[in-house]
Amino acid sequence: MKTIDELLTEGVAGKRVFVRADLNVPLDGTTITDDGRIRAVAPTVARLTGAGARVIVASHLGRPKGAPDPAFSLAPAAARLGELLGTGVAFATDTVGDSARAVVAALTDGQVAVVENLRFNAGETSKDDAERGAFADQLAELADLYVGDGFGAVHRKHASVFDLPARLPHAAGDLIATEVGVLKKLTDEVERPYAVVLGGSKVSDKLGVIDHLLERADRILIGGGMAYTFLKAQGHEVGSSLLQEDQIPAVLKYLQRAEEKGVEFVLPVDVVVSEQFPDLKTKAPSNPTTVAADAIPAGAMGLDNGPETNALYAGKLADAATVFWNGPMGVFEHPDYAEGTRAVAQALVDSPGFSVVGGGDSAAAVRILGFDENAFGHISTGGGASLEYLEGKTLPGLAALED
Ligand code: 3PG
Repeated sequence: MKTIDELLTEGVAGKRVFVRADLNVPLDGTTITDDGRIRAVAPTVARLTGAGARVIVASHLGRPKGAPDPAFSLAPAAARLGELLGTGVAFATDTVGDSARAVVAALTDGQVAVVENLRFNAGETSKDDAERGAFADQLAELADLYVGDGFGAVHRKHASVFDLPARLPHAAGDLIATEVGVLKKLTDEVERPYAVVLGGSKVSDKLGVIDHLLERADRILIGGGMAYTFLKAQGHEVGSSLLQEDQIPAVLKYLQRAEEKGVEFVLPVDVVVSEQFPDLKTKAPSNPTTVAADAIPAGAMGLDNGPETNALYAGKLADAATVFWNGPMGVFEHPDYAEGTRAVAQALVDSPGFSVVGGGDSAAAVRILGFDENAFGHISTGGGASLEYLEGKTLPGLAALED
């Protein structure tokens, strides 16, 4: 994979460089609640502008339906990027239309333009190769070179991720290079013991990665909503907790395989429950109680790991040489149910091993809970992307940068 270093050696001054970033940040109205992804790509943009490139930054945000939708405008993310760069950026109100063409034509060496949300165009996410290709052709007209640095989107076979690099000389940005380097340490070059913590709501989202990790990890610790399907599979009552009954056969197979392979599979021993899902807006007290994981009362909903589980998991992570964590342990957005997630984050911070937070909600959680990002080995910007990498899948956005 060609890197930016090589592009810079060849010279980018005066060239229009299209940077496919992942600026898909959480928004509350127009306020960015976690700017981690913008901060992660800013150094790539700064290196290119520092060398005199005219940089066009493009990204998706949310999942608009192939047409402009102001709720998903990239304008707030563009403004934040401008602040981080300290130079401001121009903003095009469309992606490949008159505004984009005019804004790009007006760029001078070392300046940056952000174009509007790629997914305002149906061609971006189309399953039809010709439709995606036609949109990629339009994007290609805006630039001379392509830099892929939207790690969070490399698992998507989308026009700007997969088709566009085939149309322009291309290289991987610094963020993608870093992310791939870290993920290699979790696959090809892993130091043991290797412990993995998986949480989040749906077990069905994690089946592929569990399958893959059963061949590689020494310990797998489960939390979050998905834990209740495992507890149910073991014959325990889970009250009104999140449950994917149809996944019980798959889960049972994994538990059996773990035993055969000698992989330690650890489930919560106690959980924090409530009769109702808490109000995440008001964060009003919600009457939580802690119960043993095999004694969840009917009508009670498990919403977090309990204190015994937190201590157990901290112990399992303390001597790990490598830790990968994806998915919160509970409803961390509410203070009554944040302790399980906080405890895992703290265990990663305390661990002398190499710790990786696998993007998405867990990356947002460590920042929202006030942890120092530098205390972790690496916080990935890709949730789905890092999981699919660990599953051993070919990621279209990385494959496109290979040749
Ligand atoms: C993400 O948030 O994981 C990436 O930005 C990809 O977004 P998507 O799941 O909407 O494709």
